[in-house]
Amino acid sequence: MYTISIRSTGYVLPEKIITNDDMSSIVDTSDEWIYSRTGIHSRRFVGEEQSAVSMATEAARKALLSSGISKEEIGVVLVATLSGDYATPSVACMVQQSLDLPKDIPVMDVNAACSGFCYALETARALLLAANDKQRPYGLIIGTEELSKLLDMTDRNTCVLFGDGAGAVVIEAGEGDASDYASVLGADGGDAILCPGVGREDAHIKMNGKEVFRFAVKILPSCIRKLQEKTGTREEDIDWFVCHQANARIIDHVVRSLKANDARFFRNMEHLGNTSGASIPLALGEMDEKHLLSPGQRLMLIGFGSGLTWGGILLKYAGPVCRNERELPI
Ligand code: COA
Repeated sequence: MYTISIRSTGYVLPEKIITNDDMSSIVDTSDEWIYSRTGIHSRRFVGEEQSAVSMATEAARKALLSSGISKEEIGVVLVATLSGDYATPSVACMVQQSLDLPKDIPVMDVNAACSGFCYALETARALLLAANDKQRPYGLIIGTEELSKLLDMTDRNTCVLFGDGAGAVVIEAGEGDASDYASVLGADGGDAILCPGVGREDAHIKMNGKEVFRFAVKILPSCIRKLQEKTGTREEDIDWFVCHQANARIIDHVVRSLKANDARFFRNMEHLGNTSGASIPLALGEMDEKHLLSPGQRLMLIGFGSGLTWGGILLKYAGPVCRNERELPI
């Protein structure tokens, strides 16, 4: 079985913290309303000096530094985003240039909204398998979003939900057990979440919240069950469930419907809000920083979002590459 595992993580958050009380000075809302329905207390918005590209570059630099590999060994660079700085070049190409990454490898953005990071992981696995380059078995997979530029700050239904940030992982591809990797990707063509392109006057996220909620609480347990079937794993074989951090109530539903152990479901939407394609790698970055990840752990990553799309990945955290004692990762 050709698998991928995570070697390292990195993440970046904008400095500007926007609390629910700050939001209530902009639209008719309250901390009580937002927190009780979403589990969100605050989010980060980029300032003048940051963008989807600059955050992606910084997160990628951190992931590379702690991976223990050389950038010459990177065989693919993918970025999950719906809010890149330009329609073209892609965020991925701009990161490639800034970090002086190899040129003869696939480098592109993947837009599957909040499922984008899971789509990017499976795409990277397929590209690394196709390239079959023993010198370059690693991939740099980033999620970055500057959603604040796509928010209608007069629409309380949406503007309180989203935030900015970026996370990145270095993955390694190679042979592994059938219980170490599986993916489930899908889409149904629905328009419950809609956002016209950047630059248009109406370039704002619009959403049918109730429809999305119903979709999410159905698709997340279904992805989890399918990944378990594919890999022959049970709940206790999974160390961490890292769901897209849209809403605490959605995760509560999933835990209840699977009768699962809540403690294995990581949550950080409270201080980040919904960061779309960046949400899962941001969660992984924070988990790593808190020493919640250790080599050999099995992780289940589940995204859902506009499209409507869904994506689930079961993979292992392998930890940084350590070739000899003098080459310990930074
Ligand atoms: N503050 C105060 N009131 C608000 C509000 C806010 N920020 N946003 C909406 N309301 C109001 C509505 O106007 C409505 O008022 P009305 O009854 O007078 O018309 C009322 O609250 C109920 O609105 P409704 O949309 O039915 O709320 P809800 O209970 O469905 O909760 C969401 C709204 C968005 C929190 C919920 O639908 C949800 O979490 N959906 C999933 C969204 C999601 O995760 N999206 C991302 C997917 S990637």
